[in-house]
Amino acid sequence: MKKKILVTGGTGYIGSHTAVELIGSGYEVNIIDNLYNSDAETAERIGEITGIKPHLEVFDICDRKKLDGFLKKNSKISAIIHFAAYKAVGESVNKPLDYYRNNLDSLMNLLDAMIRFKIPALVFSSSCTVYGQPEKLPVTEDTPIKPATSPYGNTKRIGEEVIRDTVFANPDLKAISLRYFNPVGAHPSGLIGEMPRGVPENLVPFITQTAIGLRDMLQVFGNDYNTPDGSCIRDYLHVVDLAKAHVVAVDRLLGDKNKKRYEVFNLGTGKGVSVFEAIESFERVSGVKLKYKVTGRRPGDIEKIWADPSFANEELGWKTEYSLDEAMRSAWKWENSIRKKI
Ligand code: NAD
Ligand code: WQD
Repeated sequence: MKKKILVTGGTGYIGSHTAVELIGSGYEVNIIDNLYNSDAETAERIGEITGIKPHLEVFDICDRKKLDGFLKKNSKISAIIHFAAYKAVGESVNKPLDYYRNNLDSLMNLLDAMIRFKIPALVFSSSCTVYGQPEKLPVTEDTPIKPATSPYGNTKRIGEEVIRDTVFANPDLKAISLRYFNPVGAHPSGLIGEMPRGVPENLVPFITQTAIGLRDMLQVFGNDYNTPDGSCIRDYLHVVDLAKAHVVAVDRLLGDKNKKRYEVFNLGTGKGVSVFEAIESFERVSGVKLKYKVTGRRPGDIEKIWADPSFANEELGWKTEYSLDEAMRSAWKWENSIRKKI
């Protein structure tokens, strides 16, 4: 019998790619999503790619009664991957309570339900944002956590602590927090990808929207940083590589080999890429000359950060396979496919 995985936020950007990989690896996928930042059609698209449409239940995980009702109906869930959260850093500064409520209530409801419904394993979407600007690069899992610079970032730091404490108090629970660096790109089919609401905050969707004519030009936020070309440096990883790491994390939690009850992994390529290098990569694969101008620094931006992914490489047997060019190519294909539909 197939093992059943509950994917919260499974019609969202990373969740949908993970659902594809889980189905491809022989898991049964059940999705809960309130469609706040996604579309029910994504479940159809996952079905088109894999040949198996995941079951989608539309409700808010902050609603305990609905969550309990769902779990009463759907027994034998082997593990939960918890993607559902609000994620706009800028918005979180203006709406802190919305972020604390949504991101933490949903997590605490799930953990509480896991104990009561005897669901033993959780994978949590954390973020490199917990490191702030690290003193030493690359960043290992032992790099000190810094005070968060946004309510969003704080929900990830607190979320990890809530999970750690709950796991230690409940011997039947196991969990893995995955600290993503910068996920980019889309499924090579062009059927699923990132769908930002309004003006994108993140670099790659802003690049593709500018290239397609939806935005006048990209602003490069600063060229006076202490980096080789003066622009900020990040570790951009292809979303399909990231999705695969979740399958490996679930396998590890459900297997008998690993006895550790709570673990944290950095997920990145290990390579720092500047904003100008990201633009060059996009121009190279799309053949489009991007309109951009250098403007002032974006408040709160981290100068440079990239992962040391060796713990994930060695312990999970996972490493990124796609290049930045491939990620940009897929992001461009996705941008073109959504604009055709609109
Ligand atoms: P996304 O917005 O595309 O997906 C999140 C999904 O969760 C959406 O479909 C949304 O409708 C749903 N959702 C939100 N709150 C919900 C609730 N209370 N109940 C039910 N559904 C709810 O975001 P994403 O980029 O796929 O991110 C997934 C996770 O990864 C998030 O936890 C995010 O914080 C984390 N993360 C993302 C990035 C990134 O750059 N995209 C980086 C690090 C960490
Ligand atoms: C990347 C680089 C910008 C837009 C965010 C979240 C963080 C984490 C990862 C979730 C930076 C530059 C961007 C633009 C630009 N997410 N840029 N012009 O800053 O790493 O962080 O994603 O957990 O919490 O804050 O990603 O894509 O916003 O920016 O020059 O229009 O691109 O300055 O150097 P970032 P990003």
